[in-house]
Amino acid sequence: MSEYQKLIDEAQSAAESSQNAEELGSARSKFLGKKSQLSEAKKELGKLEERDRAAAGKELNEVRKLIEKAFEQREVHLQEEAWNLQFESERIDLSERLESLRRGHLHLITQARDHLEDVFVGMGFTVAEGPEVETAWYNFEALNIPDWHPARGNFDTIFVNLGSPEEVMLRSHTSPVQVRTMENHQPPIYIVAPGRTFRTDNADATHLPAFNQIEGLVIDKGITMGDLAGTIDSFVQAFFGTEVKSRLRPSYFPFTEPSAEFDISRPDGSWLELGGCGMVHPNVLSNCGIDSEEWQGFAFGFGIDRLVAMRYQLDDIRELVVNDARFLRQF
Ligand code: DAH
Repeated sequence: MSEYQKLIDEAQSAAESSQNAEELGSARSKFLGKKSQLSEAKKELGKLEERDRAAAGKELNEVRKLIEKAFEQREVHLQEEAWNLQFESERIDLSERLESLRRGHLHLITQARDHLEDVFVGMGFTVAEGPEVETAWYNFEALNIPDWHPARGNFDTIFVNLGSPEEVMLRSHTSPVQVRTMENHQPPIYIVAPGRTFRTDNADATHLPAFNQIEGLVIDKGITMGDLAGTIDSFVQAFFGTEVKSRLRPSYFPFTEPSAEFDISRPDGSWLELGGCGMVHPNVLSNCGIDSEEWQGFAFGFGIDRLVAMRYQLDDIRELVVNDARFLRQF
């Protein structure tokens, strides 16, 4: 074996120092190829005496195996190196993507709307919806606002020009859902109707031309102003916390009689106006085919965006619609 040790050492260091598959290939054929010292030695075997031949052959095989092993090991090593290089060059930096995959959440308005629905559902109401495009009947007339009525001008309505016979508009409040519900359901009725509403207002710190309201309607027997006040109070406490109080102030709406505005208390003792309410006007009940001698009810409505702006003390209500993720992410 010692005769070949030098060859083995040389082959091993040739394999070790090969830097790529090509170098390794040529080193390999130098030590294992047809013209290699090993192959020549093999040819020489025939010249040996019969009794020496087997031992010499066996020795040659062992030497060959050792050399082959050195080349195989180097080959595996070079292959791994090449793969690593390739992986490195093909690696994609995913950190940017991970950033944008950060989990999102519902918009602040949607959260508030869901929360409002939950509170009212907890008080026994169901949720009703109506179309965002309405006719004059639903948006005004059935609500006791005929076209000569001065209050009609207060709504700054966005009209949809569809021509005659009907006047069509983007609903300027959620109150038309009251009418649709009473038309389609027999009392008793306990509903809230959240949804989008529209007016010709220009967007500024306190106004949005497309905003959200929630409407409440209760029709039952023997309903009084006390039920209205109690309902508003329970809602305010459930939504804002038990320390917050509510109060009603006399006001005017064509669809309620008497009418009121309702306020909530602030920690400093001052009051904030939240929305309007009142006892459903007998004309509204009869417009919807409900006998006002038999049934009474109350209604209320307020802006969801304004409520959110109040609750989170937003300086500018437009924050809710510009969709700056840095703002939205905070809630
Ligand atoms: N619809 C009124 C508005 O948009 C709000 C309102 C006031 C709704 C009194 C009501 C109500 O149901 O009873 O200004």
